[in-house]
Amino acid sequence: MKDQYAVIGNPVEHSKSPWIHARFAEQTGEPVEYGRILGPLGGFEAAVKTFIASGGRGMNVTVPFKLDAHAFADSLSPRAAAAGAVNTLSFGDDGVRGDNTDGVGLVRDIEANLGVSLKGARILLLGAGGAARGVVLPIFDRQPAALTIVNRTAAKAHELVEQFAARAKESGVRFTGGGAESAEKVRYDVVINATAGSLDAALPECDDAAFGPGTLAYDMMYGPKPTVFMEHAERLGARAADGLGMLVEQAAESFFIWRGVRPDGGAVLRELRQTLAAKA
Ligand code: ATR
Repeated sequence: MKDQYAVIGNPVEHSKSPWIHARFAEQTGEPVEYGRILGPLGGFEAAVKTFIASGGRGMNVTVPFKLDAHAFADSLSPRAAAAGAVNTLSFGDDGVRGDNTDGVGLVRDIEANLGVSLKGARILLLGAGGAARGVVLPIFDRQPAALTIVNRTAAKAHELVEQFAARAKESGVRFTGGGAESAEKVRYDVVINATAGSLDAALPECDDAAFGPGTLAYDMMYGPKPTVFMEHAERLGARAADGLGMLVEQAAESFFIWRGVRPDGGAVLRELRQTLAAKA
């Protein structure tokens, strides 16, 4: 029997993770079977325990359970502890291990798939919720020159700056943040939309001067059409990307944690885009 994995979320029927992991298993020859589990609201722990009891080896965790998974894990990777959220669970003899691969997935998509180096870059991060918090340390690890966090609610950006100030100093990154006025009056190399704005077609407030030719505008969301953020950035001359590659690369990192084998995320991303285009 193959080793059992699954994604748990609510809703979960549209999750692309089973498709992605099936491609990874094919590509690497690993004996992996990957399903999907609809977690009842308020019933996360029970659902995970049932999966473990049936021999499950690991899980991906998606909305709305990433904080529950963080609380449930017996031990946490440093990046999951910093993010305050868990998207990858591993079940072993030493209990339940929680990790967070979202930030590494974002960084790998930008650098490996989109070909934009973050080393020495000026980066603007829009949003200061869970999604933003999870990517701060993986971004520092790439040694950018500066990271600015801008959020509608300035106090939440200030909290993040405070939380990660010591790590920024260690990494040699100029790290600042606040409300919309906190963006430096420069063109940024990379602008990342980590707000939930794209869900309801809202454009997060951001100075137009941040975008221009040479800017990569990255929306963590993806959908059948470019988001309002992507369209806005393109009108200002920037190159825009959606978050589909982040989805594939966070999955690749989870697969690596579980199996010790690194799949080729770029190849699976190209295949996924073709599949989605054919359906559209
Ligand atoms: P997630 O886990 O997806 O990050 P979250 O923790 O609820 O979700 O954070 C949502 C983020 O999107 C926040 O930064 C939020 O801004 P506030 O802190 O001011 O609430 C941001 N956000 C949501 N809707 C937005 C909108 N219409 N315009 C700008 N920012 C928005």
